[in-house]
Amino acid sequence: MQKLTFLLAVLATCAFIWSAPGAAADRQGGRTIYETYCIACHGEAGRPIDPTIPNFANGDRLFQMDSQLLESIRTGNQTMPAFRGLLSDQEIRDVIAYLRTL
Ligand code: HEC
Repeated sequence: MQKLTFLLAVLATCAFIWSAPGAAADRQGGRTIYETYCIACHGEAGRPIDPTIPNFANGDRLFQMDSQLLESIRTGNQTMPAFRGLLSDQEIRDVIAYLRTL
């Protein structure tokens, strides 16, 4: 019985490890999304085209939890467009993971 419990624990751990990459944010995919939807304003590698736009290369606005950034990107703000409906939450999470590499 103990052996069986141990075996189940090992299997559960393996299943968790195998499933993790799918669930984790995909920075490379996030970069593609950034270059499609965000680069026009936020610029190459997060350096904005205009000083009124946050500079992600300097870490502007990035001292927030992912959940807060997700909400801001979904709803937009003034000139910042809302991406709800255009990008899925997973795609927005991927973009946030990319912003965190800048
Ligand atoms: C039309 C220009 C434009 C585009 C396109 C754009 N943004 Fe923005 N973004 C802005 C501006 C302007 C602000 C500053 C708004 C403000 O003062 O809060 C901003 C702010 C932000 C912020 C900070 C929000 C906060 O709560 O502080 C994040 C994060 C962000 N943008 C991410 C993105 C992402 C990701 C994309 C692409 C999916 C994107 N933006 C596309 C103009 C743009």
